[in-house]
Amino acid sequence: MTEVEGARSFQVDGGAYNLFMGRYSKPLADRFAEAAGVRAGHSALDVGCGPGALTSVLVDRLGAESVVACDPSPSFVEACANRHPDVEVRAGRAEALPFDDDRFEVVLAQLVLHFVSEPLPAAREMGRVARPGSTVGACVWDFDRGMEMLRRFWDAALAMDPGAPDEARTMRFGRPGELVALFDSAGLQGTTETMLTVRSTCRDFDELWAGFRAGVGPAGSYCQSLPSRARDRLERRLHAEVGEPTGPFTLDAVARCAIGRTKGI
Ligand SMILES: C[S@@+](CC[C@H](N)C(=O)[O-])C[C@H]1O[C@@H](n2cnc3c(N)ncnc32)[C@H](O)[C@@H]1O
Repeated sequence: MTEVEGARSFQVDGGAYNLFMGRYSKPLADRFAEAAGVRAGHSALDVGCGPGALTSVLVDRLGAESVVACDPSPSFVEACANRHPDVEVRAGRAEALPFDDDRFEVVLAQLVLHFVSEPLPAAREMGRVARPGSTVGACVWDFDRGMEMLRRFWDAALAMDPGAPDEARTMRFGRPGELVALFDSAGLQGTTETMLTVRSTCRDFDELWAGFRAGVGPAGSYCQSLPSRARDRLERRLHAEVGEPTGPFTLDAVARCAIGRTKGI
């Protein structure tokens, strides 16, 4: 799956997203805002906001009037705007942000840059709309072993189909130093990388499987693309991969987080 196809796989409604990735992006947003030092008085932009997990955290910390969000997916723009009627939510790609220069004190992209077709222009754009001396941050799942839900899914898929488009193989920025190198190339300064760990508990295996069946993101798209018998086999294989739970179970997820600054005046 290319990055453009990856981005298209988010043309789903906010409810489907929340069933799938929302269970992780909500707790991650808290950790990410903390790592970026978001404080009352800042104005902030959420790039690639999706249905608004990070937007919500920014609103809680800063107030709706100080938060702006954008996303290229019309259904996510609608979902985020419905959730936050007082927030300016715009349609827009990270590579061409629809905002003036030097507008925000904090510009953040949570779980977005690996889906962006042109990440360097996107990182430059994030710096352009941030004021001099301001914070620019991004986080992406550590795909090798850190995002257990996706890792178990792709291990199950690979066991049946060695050509399955494992995100650890197809996606960038989930390995040490990749986000820092991107930010350095975009002219951001003093970038540091940290790891953010979150966890989510599923009520039972059916809840986890329903998230994949919702067709969100590369994993959901792959799941939906399978003929029904292959999908049933994948379900059984995934059940084994997560330890054949008969009740609630918890999966951790680790994101790599880069925080840099724009040049001061
Ligand atoms: C995994 S979701 C993350 C959504 C949200 N930030 C969160 O943490 O829940 C990836 C998001 O990136 C968005 N996206 C894809 N391509 C993009 C681009 N070129 N510019 C900005 N956002 C993009 C998708 O529409 C989707 O909302």
